[in-house]
This record gives sequence, C-alpha cells and structure tokens, in this order.
Amino acid sequence: MSLNDASILVTGGTGSFGTAFLKHCLERYRPRRLIVFSRDELKQSELSQALGTTDPGCLRFFIGDVRDRDRLEMAMRGVDLVVHAAALKQVTAAEYNPFECIQTNVIGAENVVHGAIRAGVKKVIALSTDKAASPINLYGASKLASDKIFTAANHLSGGHEPRFAVVRYGNVLNSRGSVVPVFARLLADGATSLPITDPRMTRFCITLQQAVDFVVSCLDLMRGGEVFVPKIPSMSILDVARALGPAADHRIVGIRPGEKLHETLITSDDARATRDLGDRFVIEPSFAVWDRTRDGGAGTPVGEDFHYASDTNDAWLSAEDLRRLLQDTLAPGAG
Ligand SMILES: NC(=O)c1ccc[n+]([C@@H]2O[C@H](COP(=O)([O-])OP(=O)(O)OC[C@H]3O[C@@H](n4cnc5c(N)ncnc54)[C@H](OP(=O)(O)O)[C@@H]3O)[C@@H](O)[C@H]2O)c1
Repeated sequence: MSLNDASILVTGGTGSFGTAFLKHCLERYRPRRLIVFSRDELKQSELSQALGTTDPGCLRFFIGDVRDRDRLEMAMRGVDLVVHAAALKQVTAAEYNPFECIQTNVIGAENVVHGAIRAGVKKVIALSTDKAASPINLYGASKLASDKIFTAANHLSGGHEPRFAVVRYGNVLNSRGSVVPVFARLLADGATSLPITDPRMTRFCITLQQAVDFVVSCLDLMRGGEVFVPKIPSMSILDVARALGPAADHRIVGIRPGEKLHETLITSDDARATRDLGDRFVIEPSFAVWDRTRDGGAGTPVGEDFHYASDTNDAWLSAEDLRRLLQDTLAPGAG
C-alpha cells in the first residue's frame, strides 16, 4: 500500500519511533494527512516546530489518550492506515504501576482495534518488543496481550478491512529511556566509570531508521494476523559501554527486577508457525483470515528446534560497529 495520498494516524507520534516515522513520511511520500495522536501538548508543540520546515500542510495534531475509545474513534475518521506506537515501555515503572501499564498497553490496544473497525481504517500495524516473547515482566506481558489482541482482531473484521498485524523488534539504539542516552549523559557529566548490570548481558539492536523502514515494508506485506520480526544483530552491554566511553571503568550494579540476561524475539514454541522470508521472519497466525494455500506460503519454515535469541544470534555488532552507528545517529540532524 502506498503511503502517497494515504491518511495515516500514528499513536505515540511524538515518541522516538513516531517522530522518525513522521519525518520519513514527510521526506519520502506525499501523504494526504499525517495525524499525531498522543497526550502531552508540549511534546506535540515541540514536534510541530521541529517538523514545521518540511511540509506542515498534511500534519494534524490530536491530543488524546489511547485509553479513551471515543476520542480514538473520532481521530480515526477518514484514516486509511494506523501505526500504533503509543505505549508505556519502562520495565520498572510497569512493575510499580501495573494497572497503569495494562490500561495503556492492553486496554489501549483493544481501543485501537475498536476505533479502527468503527472508523473503517484499512490497515493497522502495532509495534511490539522482544520483551513480549516469553515475558518475565509486566511490560512484556502487556505487549504480548496487545499482540494477541491485534492478531485476533482480524476475526472481528471478518477477513475484510481493517487488517491488523504486529511488528516485533529489539532495543532501538539511542531511543528515549535506553542505555545509550544514560551512558552518554553520565560521560558528559564527567563520569569515569559506567554502571553495568551484568557483563554477560546481550540485546538485539536496531536503529530507528531501520525500524521505520521495516514497519513501512511490513505495511506492504501484511495480510492480517502476522507478527513480523526483522533479522537484526546482537550487541553486548560491555560493547555499548566501550563504544561510548572507551576510557571509562565499569562497575557491576546487578540485573534489575524484571530484566532478562538475554532477549528472545522468537521462542521455540513460536517456531512451528514461523517462516523465513530472507530479510525477516514472520510468525503466522494460528487461524489465518487469508488463504494459506494461495501462494504456497511465502518463504520457508524455520524448523521446530529454531529459536531467535540475542545470545545465540549469528550477527553481532562490535564496539567499533556501535561507535560508528552512534556517530551517525547522534550526529546533528540525524533521525
Ligand atoms: N524503544 C525501544 O527500544 C523499543 C523496542 C521495541 C519496541 N518498542 C515499541 O515501540 C513503540 C514506540 O516506542 P518509542 O521508543 O517510540 O516510545 P516513546 O519514545 O516512549 O514514545 C511513546 C509515545 O507514546 C505516547 N503515549 C504514551 N502513553 C500514551 C497514551 N496513553 N495515549 C496516547 N499516547 C501515549 C507518548 O506521548 P505522550 O506521553 O505525550 O502521550 C509518546 O508519543 C512502543 O510500542 C514500544 O513498546 C520500542
């Protein structure tokens, strides 16, 4: 589906992903309308100023909360595509405020589904995280519940529009609240030692631009009910620290409540439904609303003993790779 002439709504449009997605749409396409849906007026006003020079003509700013079903439905009138990026995503905050996390991430997901069906949206793509695979914290569990709500929603729309799919990826390099800005701030304040939770810790790594490109490509591929997973490299927490502060010491502070040592994007139980599409995996829905036999099924099955985890990944970023990537993403004007 072309983003040209489409009316697109982005929940969480002022966040790290949302901002990069909006810039991408304004630079590469000519959308009819590009609607930001989020709560905080200050973030919206700052984003409006930041994007103002590009093409403010199609931009609309909608103050709203995904917990408010009526408001969502109103914002979605005449919308073709919804990208659902609004979430509470801090693991610790979710542990301490469980029902706040559930209201935004789970009830919010249900409201997006409801609004999209009522407003006649064509496609909805929801952002998920590796923490939703075999979750051990509430953030991950709430995103798994959200994934299930979106994949099942295809049955509510009876195999017609809207179609709903999920994109699941790992840590976004330098996104708000991630370890990179924390380390960068400490070093800028003159710290000579960086806190390391556990020297064995590994994570998947994706840049914001790669995440945006992936979501846009999945909008084209989706038929309804899939969880799309990009093939992305892993990084070790020690290499992140070495990349940012080569001269800094490390002090071990211990793994935080709700944190895993390694993350998983596809569990071995998901493997039965997973196909390898070359540059990505797709976890197909148990009950598809489309005809699986029509094209013989895209890609190849991954096999039953497959699982995709950050510690057993084939592809890795070294400290030097990370330093180069960070130079690009931290450069003035970088997305
Ligand atoms: N960052 C990562 O490393 C990463 C990795 C994997 C997946 N993801 C997923 O990617 C998505 C986007 O993440 P991000 O890094 O862009 O997050 P972010 O920078 O924290 O942005 C979150 C956005 O959601 C909005 N929001 C929060 N609660 C809301 C509510 N109740 N109603 C409406 N809007 C609300 C926020 O604006 P207001 O506060 O103004 O409402 C903000 O625009 C999330 O679903 C996240 O789970 C992120």
